[in-house]
Amino acid sequence: MSPSGIPETLQFEDNQLILIDQTRLPSEVVTLRCVTVEQVHDAIYRLVVRGAPAIGIAAAYGVCLANRGSREDYLRAMDYLATSRPTAVNLFWALDRMKQCLIACTDDEQLQERLVAEARKIHDEDRQMCRDIGFEGSALLSGCKRILTHCNAGGLATSTRGTALAPIYHLHEQGHAIEVFADETRPLLQGARLTAWELSQAGVPVTVLTDSMAGGLMRAGKVDAVIVGADRIASNGDVANKVGTYPLAVLANHHQVPFYVAAPSSTFDEQLETGDAIPIEERKREEISMQGDRMVVPENANVMNPAFDVTPAAMITAIITERGVLRSPILSIQADFESAK
Ligand code: MRU
Repeated sequence: MSPSGIPETLQFEDNQLILIDQTRLPSEVVTLRCVTVEQVHDAIYRLVVRGAPAIGIAAAYGVCLANRGSREDYLRAMDYLATSRPTAVNLFWALDRMKQCLIACTDDEQLQERLVAEARKIHDEDRQMCRDIGFEGSALLSGCKRILTHCNAGGLATSTRGTALAPIYHLHEQGHAIEVFADETRPLLQGARLTAWELSQAGVPVTVLTDSMAGGLMRAGKVDAVIVGADRIASNGDVANKVGTYPLAVLANHHQVPFYVAAPSSTFDEQLETGDAIPIEERKREEISMQGDRMVVPENANVMNPAFDVTPAAMITAIITERGVLRSPILSIQADFESAK
């Protein structure tokens, strides 16, 4: 439990993974306890826990729930959790760390303890990453008063404070007068339900807008910067993030508004040359065709429901990471990381 009385996004206690149930926010702040690998898989798939870094942490703890003592059980759990969502590379990154930990531990008696320690390490590193991104990003955003964001890349999407929201929290705490515009983020409303909730809990002024309003707002000169998170970044700097991010980048470029991406290095996928190779999750029809119990799309009409889109590197002003800021033009993330040191 945090000092404000709000539970942490993820906690691991007594061999249980305790998650804020993000499907219930903002009307109810309740937690969900997972005691099996299957429950963690389901929680990730249903977006009880979501956001690239938080998915990785949840999966790492999820592996620890396969604690029936056999290496095969843990390996099966890793393979199974890897099928929960395809786009956020942090999931595969965290599972790979758990696998390396399992391989390095030759004493079966110590295996469970080592795996829990590795999952806690991933969780702790994420806390530090959020602080570092907050610090790095605050310098870039310090002259900006009105900042627009999409989806939720805040404390609910990470261990604490987030990626895109971390610089905003940092500046707010330093007394900068910041106002946030949160795109509602169709169809699951992470912006309206989650970003607006966590910012208002922290006392940051926030206004929710429909996704289609962003262009008008920029045209009226009311947006100083856009900042979003990322689910996977290819070697050339192309970024996959919540669907609707790419049109926002097009608008920001047209209106000469800086467009920032904030993400930890665990979101970079150096195996992929460009964003075209990033697997994009297609989610179920009902997320679009139903509003509660009401059908809002005729049965014989098709529906498209990709959860993410790809923004080309050329449209991104800078990528803010815990290891430094990669500025446009981003030619190759590896080379740019070297020069950001
Ligand atoms: O489908 P979601 O809610 O998991 O999508 C989340 C996003 O797109 C976030 O912007 C991204 O994961 C970065 S979270 C720090």
